[in-house]
Amino acid sequence: MERTLSIVKPDGVARGLMGEVVGRFEKAGITIAAMKLIHMTKKQAQGFYAVHKERPFFDSLTDFMSSGPCLVMVLQGENVIAKNRELMGATNYKDAAPGTIRADFANDIEKNIVHGSDAPETAAFEIGYFFNSFEIAG
Ligand code: RTP
Ligand code: MG
Repeated sequence: MERTLSIVKPDGVARGLMGEVVGRFEKAGITIAAMKLIHMTKKQAQGFYAVHKERPFFDSLTDFMSSGPCLVMVLQGENVIAKNRELMGATNYKDAAPGTIRADFANDIEKNIVHGSDAPETAAFEIGYFFNSFEIAG
């Protein structure tokens, strides 16, 4: 049993894709253990993406992530970190496999609809960034 953090990014929420993304998780048999809408400040987005602080896209990414509400979720299940990354598709929608969320809906490398933790250590940090233990069911 594993947990991961999923985010429907501000572009996904604004484009009305929350239900689409949640539906894909449900169809894949993934348990949603927690969910809420949040609107991050620039500072909160910088803290969340601190691993990318030296990257050239950091300022633009944190502007984007603080530009509107995000749907943050804790997903739970066997191998769920990899399963979620598979459903998301590659970072660049142009490289994303057909049928993935990013291939189906993204048209920008930055505004790419969803975020998913990439390893158990980052999942633990990212879940703790948004949720306390009382907010996570199951
Ligand atoms: P995420 O962390 O959001 O789940 O995405 P990821 O692992 O697939 O990609 P990552 O390398 O961690 O990059 C984080 C987010 O930064 C934006 N990005 N922009 N302009 C660019 O070249 C560029 N590269 C990455 C994307 O929003 C990416 O999801
Ligand atoms: Mg990443």
